[in-house]
Amino acid sequence: MLNIANKTLKLLIGQIRIGVTASKTLLFLWLKYDLKSIDGELGIDLAGGSMMNKKFFMTKKYICVDLDKLKLDRGVRNFPDALPVNDKIENFIKAYNREKPNLLVCTQTMGINSKFNHDHTLILIKMIYDLLKPGGSMVFNVGNVGVNLSLIEKELGKLFSRKFKYIKINSYGFMNKTIKKPNPYFQFFLANLMNIIPPLRTCFGFNKTNIYCCFKKKL
Ligand SMILES: C[S@@+](CC[C@H](N)C(=O)[O-])C[C@H]1O[C@@H](n2cnc3c(N)ncnc32)[C@H](O)[C@@H]1O
Repeated sequence: MLNIANKTLKLLIGQIRIGVTASKTLLFLWLKYDLKSIDGELGIDLAGGSMMNKKFFMTKKYICVDLDKLKLDRGVRNFPDALPVNDKIENFIKAYNREKPNLLVCTQTMGINSKFNHDHTLILIKMIYDLLKPGGSMVFNVGNVGVNLSLIEKELGKLFSRKFKYIKINSYGFMNKTIKKPNPYFQFFLANLMNIIPPLRTCFGFNKTNIYCCFKKKL
């Protein structure tokens, strides 16, 4: 009996993405859930690294853009059908002149990753919007490193409130401390708990360090 439960849990964990913190696991839970209903011809993973989010993309084609060639190579080894682009995302978008994407994703980069110029956060979000096909969707998260999160949230409301059919902005950040050897089952449990009980996501407003944004169906 215990064996069956263990196998079921392992199968479940294989379908999701467990982060190094419960907070990151929560982000990947949301991402998996939202990307499930976004299909179409082309999805682009901006600053997609080693393509850890590719398993959530339902689009026919998947392009991954990243500065780090080694990460892209690792991704292609795991997903030979992926199309890697070794470039800065800002340059990639400026030069892009092919079919417009149905989906653009950018996770763990704006206001988070040290290689990203955080002053470009709002500029990049606008660029992402412009690149998107009508009817398309954009999903990203933003952290608070070098970024005024409440200002970004306000600007997002101003810019996009009438530009998409469906808008979701979730705040989170509680249990963001990296654990050396995280127990995937426990991380999964904590992430689900925070998902079900929204005040826990920010520890009742005391740990609001990130926002998760899902804008679906560009009008
Ligand atoms: C923490 S990783 C996240 C990777 C992936 N999005 C994920 O969630 O697994 C951040 C990635 O952003 C990339 N990056 C940061 N700034 C970038 C930029 N301006 N253009 C392209 N890649 C960038 C880094 O090389 C790194 O692979």
